[in-house]
Amino acid sequence: MNFPLNWRVLSLSLLLVGGTALAADGTPKAAATAHSASMQQRPGHAAIASANFLATNAGLEVLAKGGNAFDAAIAVASTLSVVEPESSGIGGGFMAVLHRAKDGHDVFIDAREAAPAAVNRKDYINPDGSPNRDAALKGPLSAGIPGEPAGLVLIAKRYGRLPLQQSLAPAIRIARDGFQPDARLRGSIAAEQKTLERWPASVAKYLPNGKPPAEGVIWRDPDQARTWELIAAHGDDGFYHGETAQKLVAAVRAAGGNWTLADLASYQAKERTPITVNYHGYRIVTAPPPSSGGVAIAEILNILSGIDLTKMDQAQRVHYIVEAMRRAFRDHNDYLGDPDFVKMPLDMLLSPFYADGLRQGILPDKATPSSMLPRAEAPEPGMHTTHFSIIDADGNMAAVTSTVNYTMGSTFVAEGTGVLLNDEMDDFALVPNKPNVYGLLGSAANAPEPGKRMLSSMSPSIVIGADRTAVIGSPGGSTIITQVLEGILHFIDGESAQQIAAHKRFHHQYLPDEVMVEDGTFDPATSEALTKMGYTLKQRESWGFMNVVTWDRKTNKLDAASDPRRPSGLGKVQ
Ligand code: GLY
Repeated sequence: MNFPLNWRVLSLSLLLVGGTALAADGTPKAAATAHSASMQQRPGHAAIASANFLATNAGLEVLAKGGNAFDAAIAVASTLSVVEPESSGIGGGFMAVLHRAKDGHDVFIDAREAAPAAVNRKDYINPDGSPNRDAALKGPLSAGIPGEPAGLVLIAKRYGRLPLQQSLAPAIRIARDGFQPDARLRGSIAAEQKTLERWPASVAKYLPNGKPPAEGVIWRDPDQARTWELIAAHGDDGFYHGETAQKLVAAVRAAGGNWTLADLASYQAKERTPITVNYHGYRIVTAPPPSSGGVAIAEILNILSGIDLTKMDQAQRVHYIVEAMRRAFRDHNDYLGDPDFVKMPLDMLLSPFYADGLRQGILPDKATPSSMLPRAEAPEPGMHTTHFSIIDADGNMAAVTSTVNYTMGSTFVAEGTGVLLNDEMDDFALVPNKPNVYGLLGSAANAPEPGKRMLSSMSPSIVIGADRTAVIGSPGGSTIITQVLEGILHFIDGESAQQIAAHKRFHHQYLPDEVMVEDGTFDPATSEALTKMGYTLKQRESWGFMNVVTWDRKTNKLDAASDPRRPSGLGKVQ
């Protein structure tokens, strides 16, 4: 099962000898046509779907002031930092796929956190050699250098129409004037109360009077408002230098962390080339490393493109999708990491010929057991990570997935800044052969190193067809990849934004070797057929929070849908 790299490269080159040549840019004709169609037309109105109605409205407010989808993305992300801090925010990072309508330019924004220079694996290992899960997930040692502020500044400079002051205004206003925390935020604070209680600034912010905020109270965050104001006035300098940087470093070091001013000063958000894959006439633009999401989605779609799923019953269809997921996650574990540090065989992993080989190894009526690596328990996804999708009146698009990692990140607030730090260090392979909180194993490619970005599953994606386009993404830890994949398949099957967001889901990630299933996904006959093929089905309660916008260019209809599993989201067309 676990072929060495050189074997795989050799088999690829053998396959290439007889393979069909792709166009120079790797784009088949159908996709090029879809692309030109999207450039010729503009919707004339806009759609946003996010996890919180205040954030969606912040984006619409900025569009109404003359901003484009990218300014709106800044407004939505910064507002989510205030109103949905359990999932993403100023102390975390994001990944985004942007599509600029006027010239069809697609770009990936990497605002992923980075390890501080003093990162030391020993900090995450107990004296007996077992993983120190607390250090990996709570407190300042669990936090990477935040990328969110730098990423938003970069988007404003290179893609926005408005000054940052205007795009950040809604978040600053809401943080200053206050808002009513929704049930999810109140529940997340209650769930993390014990760890929040360890840090005085976290208590001051999240546990007024020693308790989570009650329903209906107006909750204010003046420290965070001031930090966003500094960013609005000074760009990167408002966070990565000067007063904020000094407060962040002082707070982190006082609580046992190891950040320095140089770590903050050297952080840079990066533009990268997105991964593009063609599937049944659609061009899917998605996240490259340091996300594993786009590579896995491309590998799965390449495997599936040689199979006619429409002619199959549900059990067969699920069988082939799960086998494709299994193989893509195996490669994810083996090869992927930060592209600035690791050489990855992406040409191989993304090649249709490599996928041909993988497809041929799938038995038509039997599960292939995942082997070798020790079994890892994947927990229920919590209230972490957020995704939002935007299409503006000109046809610009933004797919943004943002995170502080696990629910409430590290639970550590740096005093005087309002910044809740992430716990993204756990996304590194901190302890060899031990899984992270999502049950994902990593290899040396994702080992922590100074300045390196930890591997992510975030998979913001744009799907462009001849007549229809979707902007799509989801939170959900390792299940992000498979949830987005299923969303893409449902869109290509003709489903609406509402149907895609509501669709029941399933997941396989190589290890543990089981299909995680949402209640109601399979009818009893399908469950029985899958079990007979050798699959272990395991019910999982909590699934992502998908936010999708779609554009039907034939009818010029925009649609926006927020996942019905979580009631605080809002999809809105304006
Ligand atoms: N922290 C979750 C992810 O980036 O995949």
